[in-house]
Amino acid sequence: MAEALLHMPQGVAENYRYWGEEKTVFIDHAKGCYLTDADGKKYVDFRLGYGPIILGYSDERVDGAVIEQITQCGTMSGFSTELDITVAKQIKYLCPNVDKLRFANSGTEAVMGTVRTARAYTGRDRISIVEGGFHGLYDEMMWKSDIENWDARTQVNPKVIPFGSGIPERTKDLVDIIGLNDFEALEQLFKTRQDSLACIVLEPIIGNAGSISANRSWLQRLRDLCDQNGSLLILDEVKTGFRVAKGGAQQLYGIHADLTTYAKAMGNGYAVAAFGGKSSVMDVVGSHPGGVVHGGTYTANLVAMSATHATLKILTETDALATVDRVGMQVRELLGRVFTAAGIAHTFAGPPAMLGVHFTEQVPDTYRKWRQTNHSLYKKFAWKLIEHGVMLEPDSREPWFICEAHQSIDMGWLEEMVTRAMTEALSE
Ligand SMILES: Cc1ncc(COP(=O)(O)O)c(C=O)c1O
Repeated sequence: MAEALLHMPQGVAENYRYWGEEKTVFIDHAKGCYLTDADGKKYVDFRLGYGPIILGYSDERVDGAVIEQITQCGTMSGFSTELDITVAKQIKYLCPNVDKLRFANSGTEAVMGTVRTARAYTGRDRISIVEGGFHGLYDEMMWKSDIENWDARTQVNPKVIPFGSGIPERTKDLVDIIGLNDFEALEQLFKTRQDSLACIVLEPIIGNAGSISANRSWLQRLRDLCDQNGSLLILDEVKTGFRVAKGGAQQLYGIHADLTTYAKAMGNGYAVAAFGGKSSVMDVVGSHPGGVVHGGTYTANLVAMSATHATLKILTETDALATVDRVGMQVRELLGRVFTAAGIAHTFAGPPAMLGVHFTEQVPDTYRKWRQTNHSLYKKFAWKLIEHGVMLEPDSREPWFICEAHQSIDMGWLEEMVTRAMTEALSE
């Protein structure tokens, strides 16, 4: 860390890796569901790089496919390949909500692509997002309700603040933030923004707010209002896609978006993303007059595409996701046993592949309700788990991610560590 501080702000390659000068983690190697840090300490990892690892680290089936591909064709040429079509077809097979798609390198880029496409298609500028969601680091999406400093006892709405400095105030001018599952806010939004609302962007299962999820009836009402108003529904499945089900959250809800973003699990940790939707909408993308500009030097590079091809083939042809669900349920039951024995009110949100763990009586259904959970106990508990070799984000807004390789963990050991961590957290 001392050396890293000389070369990078806060000694890290990006902000979210900074856990303080004493606690920032440097990884030496990773295999399956295990991480080993630079000091040789081994962890079972439930953080999984914020979700991309769906099979396991260094998966030989995926890595082997990448090596074979780049040995034959290099990593990129800036031209199209047959693999573009093959992978597009794989995605369409799993996600019937997608007729046509384009590729990208990160979730942020995919979200930018959908919003630009929606604006072009509708000829409207305004967008709306949902409280507690996260859609990547570009200025317009970097406004949030200040839940941390909000007094939950008041009826006053939290302030809307930027994620940090350097974000021009005017980038929020076209953005409205509404609460998840808030019917009144939904009706109000469509009433006030009618002809100007291009799209609403949301995570139906909020992977950045402890898997707090949209109720089906609310999501259906949103779908209907979008249709009536000519606004597009964009579901950000960067975290849920190819994880919570083969067809993502849309398969679980049976409600389809006009445009969807995918990233993370589709490449088992290789940098890849995609966005797509109805042909009528996606056909505004292109170099024809008036078309939406989309592109990038590294788009659909062969490292990303061969990794995605291999990962999606495994997810399609094997029961990897059923294994993820089964193991996730075991972890959930194990946690529940320990919390019950310790007398801690607890509940779980979201599907087992992306498990939200909350210390409260009832499953929170809004981000504001997350604020009323015992997140400070969770933080203490999580830090103790990390000490005992169980890696996770020490913030209950980040769910526990499960990968196929977790099937090999010793559940008895895990239960012992969870029990120990909770006992220590409670005695602090
Ligand atoms: C739902 C969602 N959308 C978009 C993003 C941005 O993706 P990336 O970090 O790949 O740019 C994230 C990242 O965590 C995310 O969780």
